Amino acid sequence: MNKVTEITKAVFPVAGLGTRFLPATKAQPKEMMPVVDKPLIQYAVEEAYGAGIRHMIFVTGRNKRAIEDHFDTAYELETELEASQKHELLALVRSMQPDDMDCSYVRQPRSLGLGHAVLCAQPLVGQEPFAVLLADDLMTGLDGGPSVLAQMVEVFGQFQSSVLAVQQVPLDHVQRYGIVAGEQIDKKVVKVTKMVEKPRPENAPSQLAVAGRYILTPAVFDRIRNQARGAGGEIQLTDGIAALIETEGVHAYSYEGKRYDCGSKQGFLEATVELGLKHPEVGAAFREYLKTLPL
Ligand code: G1P
Repeated sequence: MNKVTEITKAVFPVAGLGTRFLPATKAQPKEMMPVVDKPLIQYAVEEAYGAGIRHMIFVTGRNKRAIEDHFDTAYELETELEASQKHELLALVRSMQPDDMDCSYVRQPRSLGLGHAVLCAQPLVGQEPFAVLLADDLMTGLDGGPSVLAQMVEVFGQFQSSVLAVQQVPLDHVQRYGIVAGEQIDKKVVKVTKMVEKPRPENAPSQLAVAGRYILTPAVFDRIRNQARGAGGEIQLTDGIAALIETEGVHAYSYEGKRYDCGSKQGFLEATVELGLKHPEVGAAFREYLKTLPL
């Protein structure tokens, strides 16, 4: 096989119900909740685009129309902005649809788990390595540095096998994540020998948790298709990836940057405050405001 140094497709599983954010998510997708001024899904799409990916594949479900509309042309809005000479806003709205970016949508008809959602994208991905981004996990690189996914594309180029973004988590949090263990082969890279979904602390092979960024080889599809249901009775992505350890190898990469778990209220608030502080328009005033709070 020729060495692959570019990833061209990204899968965004966005069919989840977002029950942890009810009532906000009763009639709108959780991925459309904004952190400062951008919906979560847009952060993830921009991260993928910045890493060189041009084909965005959304695995959607019922009540997710707003995501399709968000990445489509908004004729009325654009006409109004044009007529009122709001050029900056017009450019902002149009910048979300670069000419060289394609979006495809496929439905996950039933909520059978993350592995199943990724499998729904197989006809669109075909036989090439691809990225998976969970928009709930808002990831930022270091200031001025490459994004987490861009770092992973580099790592994939080096090893030519699946790469998972990982971070250390406290022992009492391991049950929320896919946990990997293996052999440290580089300061930031572990060759994975074990991977389990949401273990109890006493069964966890390590405290190295998978964050919502993956670069996977297409072999994972057949693994997912043929596997039994896993943790929580769901078809788990983790189990499909674990099945690749023996055949192709899997690498876990300790990324440089920060993850905000925007699937939780706490993480969402942390992202809002920290990205608010960095925002070019409101950051400085927001910082002054925070200083006045009697904390
Ligand atoms: C999913 C994955 C899990 C991973 C996590 C990262 O879990 O199943 O392996 O660690 O995303 O956010 P979920 O958060 O959907 O329960």
